[in-house]
Amino acid sequence: MMNVAIVGTGYVGLVAGTCFAELGHRVVCVDNNIEKLRKLRAGELPIYEPGLEEMVPRNVEHERLVFTDDLKSAVERADIVFIAVGTPPGEDGSADLTYVVQVAEAIGDALNGFKVVAVKSTVPIGTCDKVRAVIASRSKEHFAVVSNPEFLREGVAVPDFMKPDRIVVGAADDRAIELMTRLYRPLTQNGAKLMFMDVRSSEMTKYASNSMLATRISFMNELANLCEVVGADIENVRGGMGSDNRIGPSFLRAGVGFGGSCFPKDVRALLQTAKEYNSELGVLDSVVAANVRQKVRMVSIIREQLGDDLTGMRFGVWGLAFKPDTDDMREAPAIQIIRGLVEAGATVVAYDPEATETAQAVLENVPTYANNAYACCEGADALILLTEWREFASPDWDRVAGLMRSKTVFDGRNLWEPNEMRERGFNYRGIGRK
Ligand SMILES: NC(=O)c1ccc[n+]([C@@H]2O[C@H](COP(=O)([O-])OP(=O)(O)OC[C@H]3O[C@@H](n4cnc5c(N)ncnc54)[C@H](O)[C@@H]3O)[C@@H](O)[C@H]2O)c1
Repeated sequence: MMNVAIVGTGYVGLVAGTCFAELGHRVVCVDNNIEKLRKLRAGELPIYEPGLEEMVPRNVEHERLVFTDDLKSAVERADIVFIAVGTPPGEDGSADLTYVVQVAEAIGDALNGFKVVAVKSTVPIGTCDKVRAVIASRSKEHFAVVSNPEFLREGVAVPDFMKPDRIVVGAADDRAIELMTRLYRPLTQNGAKLMFMDVRSSEMTKYASNSMLATRISFMNELANLCEVVGADIENVRGGMGSDNRIGPSFLRAGVGFGGSCFPKDVRALLQTAKEYNSELGVLDSVVAANVRQKVRMVSIIREQLGDDLTGMRFGVWGLAFKPDTDDMREAPAIQIIRGLVEAGATVVAYDPEATETAQAVLENVPTYANNAYACCEGADALILLTEWREFASPDWDRVAGLMRSKTVFDGRNLWEPNEMRERGFNYRGIGRK
């Protein structure tokens, strides 16, 4: 058992804290958002993430997990202090380190003996050195700063954390390496791979991994657009490519572009780092540009098919979150697509199983929000799929057809089979489908 403090109780901090508690450690999750803490203490989860709803109360009950705004006491009792606050994009795309630095200052003020400070937030190369300098400027105690980037995916965050492909730790200090080894032992005993490396390589590994995945998506999106004009089908191409062991099947789905809190921000931040060091990263420049184009392409496809002026038309939208199994709307393609349709004169009725509240915070009442999938289809001139939630995979198509004014479907995630849709009498359009 180790004493762990996690500063920043968002997607990453709450999942990491709860999972460390589940592994038997004693965890204090710190946040400065009082409303979030109130919810957590009342047993309510501030985010939707499968699995957490039973793990949080269980670990709270066993007194392995507590929530507080008292950073000082949490740090004083901890062997390892994680920094898991947000690193949102600044104006130029570089990661904004305001929160990380604030927390480093507070940790420096609270140090009362040797601790490991582990940076879990995604931070530019060199940030751990900065964190070390900030803490050292405020404390005479011994401490070590390590980089421990997080690779969990929202929606499957708990299984990702509990069964990671690898755990990366950038560390130079022997005591820190020993403590991090002990912390993760419950996972490594079950086969997880713990990789130690130098701090800068660890910081870089996080950005490089997300940039590689974003590159695969943008590449597939551009190939899909090419498939459409040459008469190929991206789903066949995907199967053919993904069966090659050198390529593998993950992150090869074409769609309406990547969003979320990580890929767009991390790609831009790595580009900014390259710029600062006068280093070329032209591949990533193109990845960003392709994604910007892909996000508005659905609106162009719809206007091509239904006319430039969409005045008086009504669209049903299935899915708002940037991907299934999350309520996260950060940089979701739905935002631009819905705005684009409304700007062209249309009205939009949208439904998402979990993201209505978060969508309202960004899109306000640009669309109206339906309580269920079928309600979106009433009187609709077309149905648009933007997030491939499982409940949309095989709907009652007869019911959908009966509700719609026109049987037109735009499938932004290639969830449905074009032939089957046409057999059902729908005018179907996917991304890169024959
Ligand atoms: N969300 C993901 O899927 C994911 C995956 C891997 C890595 N990351 C990285 O992890 C970091 C956190 O991401 P997130 O999605 O959990 O962010 P988030 O916005 O959900 O959570 C951040 C939390 O930090 C809190 N916070 C901010 N300043 C604070 C302070 N001074 N003291 C205490 N708490 C403070 C906020 O109130 C918030 O609850 C980011 O760097 C992100 O890039 C995120």
